[in-house]
Amino acid sequence: MKKNFQSPQEIRQQIWKELGRASQDRHHAWRTPVLATTGTDGTVNARTVVLRSADLASQTLKIYTDRRSPKVQELTNEPNALFVFWSPRLSWQLRVRVSFSNQASSSQVEAQWQRVKQTASATDYLGQLAPGSPCAEGHSAYTLPEEVNNFTLLIAQVLEIDWLELGRAQHRRARLLQNHWQWLTP
Ligand SMILES: Cc1cc2nc3c(=O)[nH]c(=O)nc-3n(C[C@H](O)[C@H](O)[C@H](O)COP(=O)(O)O)c2cc1C
Repeated sequence: MKKNFQSPQEIRQQIWKELGRASQDRHHAWRTPVLATTGTDGTVNARTVVLRSADLASQTLKIYTDRRSPKVQELTNEPNALFVFWSPRLSWQLRVRVSFSNQASSSQVEAQWQRVKQTASATDYLGQLAPGSPCAEGHSAYTLPEEVNNFTLLIAQVLEIDWLELGRAQHRRARLLQNHWQWLTP
């Protein structure tokens, strides 16, 4: 049965625990948040991504992507972005305001690639064409040699979490900064 977390400290801890679980568990609803960015032309853009890690101590979330994908250029232009998570089991929505201004070091990226390249998803980073470029058949026909992969790791610094709980009797909502908690009208 779902535990009813009451205090701000309990809720904050549980949010990060669930984010950590989601990064390890492919069945967790928070595994695949929507990441919204500002497009290079100033319009809104959003897409589903896989949450790869969530670290309470550093307040960071990590995702993998192809370094040629448009989101990388978008985040270089405008590092402020938003993740949206929804879990029916928890009845919790998170809107996580982040900044992608932290760069992963080349050794961090390389170490991660050494793991990713053993998996089936390695081909995601070995497409001959950049994501979003026109192609003949709806998929990338060729794969690049492993040494010229386009794998990269993006680090999001969490700035603020807007937490919303849908309850049967009542809803609860709060804004969480690293050292601050504010209840909000849902
Ligand atoms: C369930 C799901 C998970 C996805 N995970 C990722 C991911 O972790 N990284 C990624 O770059 N794209 C991921 N994608 C693809 C993106 O949604 C998107 O189509 C692609 O990255 C191109 O986005 P962009 O043009 O905004 O850069 C995923 C798509 C789905 C449906």
